[in-house]
Amino acid sequence: MTSVLVTGIGELVTNDPQVGDGSALGLVTDAALVVEGGRVAWVGRRVDAPAADARTDLGGRAVVPGFVDSHAHLVFAGDRGPEFAARMAGEPYAAGGIRTTVAATRAATDEQLTAGVARLVAEMRRQGTTTVEIKSGYGLTVLDEARSLAIARGFTEETTFLGAHVVPPEFAEDPAGYVDLVTGPMLAAAAEHARWIDVFCETGAFDVDQARAILAAGREAGLAGRLHASQLGPGPGIELACELGLAAVDHCTFLTDADVAALAASGTVATLLPGVEFSTRSPYPDARALLDAGAVVALASDCNPGSSFTSSLPFCVAVAVREMGMTPAEALWAATRGGARALGRDDVGRLSVGARAHYAVLDAPSYLHLAYRPGVPLVIDTVS
Ligand code: NIG
Ligand code: FE
Repeated sequence: MTSVLVTGIGELVTNDPQVGDGSALGLVTDAALVVEGGRVAWVGRRVDAPAADARTDLGGRAVVPGFVDSHAHLVFAGDRGPEFAARMAGEPYAAGGIRTTVAATRAATDEQLTAGVARLVAEMRRQGTTTVEIKSGYGLTVLDEARSLAIARGFTEETTFLGAHVVPPEFAEDPAGYVDLVTGPMLAAAAEHARWIDVFCETGAFDVDQARAILAAGREAGLAGRLHASQLGPGPGIELACELGLAAVDHCTFLTDADVAALAASGTVATLLPGVEFSTRSPYPDARALLDAGAVVALASDCNPGSSFTSSLPFCVAVAVREMGMTPAEALWAATRGGARALGRDDVGRLSVGARAHYAVLDAPSYLHLAYRPGVPLVIDTVS
C-alpha cells in the first residue's frame, strides 16, 4: 500500500484531544500527516514525520477534518425563492411550503432528481463537506419516498427516511391513515435504502404520539431514529429524543430549561441549523446554554429549498460564531466531530490515527479564518 506524507500544514485540526495542544480540537502547528489506504496512519509535528512513498506540501495552509453535514434534504425539484423573498418582507415561515416542493418532486423524473442531488453534493464538496446525510421527505408516496432514497443511496451511506415530514394533501382529512401508510408499506419500501428514520415532530406536522409510533415502527424495521423538533415553537420532541436515546435531535430553536437539562443528561446530540434561522428570520438557538450545560452540539446545513437553501458549512460555522455564542473552536468541532457524533460515526470528523483521511485544505493560516472571513471561499481542496 502506497503511503503519502502530507507536509507544510501550518495548522492541523485533529479533533483528538490526545494529540497536539490538548484542546478539544487537538491542534498541531507545523504539522504533517501520513495517509495510507485512505486512512490516517500517522499524525504529528513535521519534524518528527516518518518517511513515506510519496510526498505533498501544502505551503503552510490550515487543514481541518472534512465537514460532516448530518442534516440535509437534497432530493427535491423546484425553487422557492419567492417564498424566501416574502419572508424577508415580513411573512412568517410556514411548514406548509413543504407541500409546494412535494408537488414539484412528484412531477420530476429520476434523472432530474439525481442531477439536483449531484449538483448540491458537488457544491458541498467544494466547501469542504466529505460526509453528508440525505433525507427523503418530498415524495410522501410509497414510490416517491422509495425512489428518493434510492437516489440518495447513490451519493451517501447516511440515508434517512422522512415519510413523516408533513401529511400530504391527499391525506388532509385522514392523518391517521397517513401514519398507517408511513409505518406500513412506505416504511417497508424505504427500509431497503435507508439507515435512519426521522419525524418532523411539531405542531402542524406530527405530534409526539405519532412520532413515538413512527420511530418504533422504524426501529422494528432496523432503522435508527432521529427527530426534527422545536423548530417553530417549544414542544415535546427534544425530551422524546433524549428518552429514546436517539442519536440526534435537530433544530432545537426553541429550547426550554427542561430541554437543555435533558440534552445535557443524555447522549443525544443537539444539531443546530443556523441556516434555518438565517433564512426564516427566526431567533437563533441558545447554543451557549447547551454547551455550558454539557450537551453535545452539532452544526448542519439543513440544505433544503424552503427553510435553508445553503450547502455551506463554513457559512453555518460563521453564523454560529456571530449569532449563537459559540467560539470558533466550538463551531468547527460541532460541524465536524459533532456531525459525526450525530451520525454515530467514529471514522470521520477527526484526523487522528485510524480515521478516514477526509479533510479540507483552507487557503488560510488557521481554522479561525472560517468565521473571521465569512463568505470567502477558503476551501481550496477537499480530500476524501
Ligand atoms: O428541516 N422542518 C421540516 N423540514 C425542513 C423544511 C423543509 C421545507 O420548508 O421545505 C426543515 O427545516
Ligand atoms: Fe430538516
